[in-house]
Amino acid sequence: MSKLSVNPQPGAGAEVTGVKLNQLSDTDFQEIQSVFAEYGLIFFRDQELTEADHVAFARRWGNININRFFAAHKDYPEIALVTKEAGQAENIGGDWHTDHSYDHEPALGSILLARDLPPSGGDTWFVSMYKAFEQLSDGMKNTLRGLRAVHSAKHVFGAQQGYELAGDEFGQRIGNAPATEEMINPVHPVVIKHPLSGKEALYVNSAFTLHFEGWTPEESAVLLEFLYKEAVREDHISRFKWRPGSIAFWDNRATWHNAQNDYPGYRREMHRITIDGCALAAST
Ligand code: SIN
Repeated sequence: MSKLSVNPQPGAGAEVTGVKLNQLSDTDFQEIQSVFAEYGLIFFRDQELTEADHVAFARRWGNININRFFAAHKDYPEIALVTKEAGQAENIGGDWHTDHSYDHEPALGSILLARDLPPSGGDTWFVSMYKAFEQLSDGMKNTLRGLRAVHSAKHVFGAQQGYELAGDEFGQRIGNAPATEEMINPVHPVVIKHPLSGKEALYVNSAFTLHFEGWTPEESAVLLEFLYKEAVREDHISRFKWRPGSIAFWDNRATWHNAQNDYPGYRREMHRITIDGCALAAST
């Protein structure tokens, strides 16, 4: 009989206990799949995964998406390194966002595993985009259901933009900024029918959403700012405190995340594997 148990977290996500991810039976895996579909965010503790175990667990979920911008593990190209060195000021992902909304088929999500942690701090915040949508008024929900939004990576990863202007003193990127020139900005529904759960989720984010289709950036900014503020209400948020062996697996279509940068003078290294996703359909 399965020893797996599911402990919903206040705000967002659920912790799954009673499993070792490198010894998963097919039944346990199927159970984890349905918990993931329901919550869009699952946490595990005390896992002892090698890099090969991490890759093998990720492969059970689909094709691995090799990161186009961040440096990879030297022996495992599937593992993107999310590192902040002791002498570094900026971290990766230190603001609310969801990954890959700049792709036509946004990645399903990422499996993030702690490898080297500061003595304290460096927590990751998550917010549920199911709840962010649910709490809105019926009038606002109906307006949003009729909208689509344009997303882009160019202002973040492009030449002479965001990350490139910040420099790369610690060699954490692969100098791929010109690749963004080839990328055609996708248009996604603002309210998606989640591909796994079928639930409605709000799908805009302040890192990569440019504007609503057919609206100017200025017109869009007013409504987007409102949505960004409402999305991060305290009752939609969970704060994950990392320990050695901790794993967070989030669904990019159902959550945002934000890596807290509050451990100056200490190193933090996380291993991230991202799984391919699919095109997103509107909820109606
Ligand atoms: C990220 O993938 O955005 C970083 C998350 C983290 O380092 O906690």
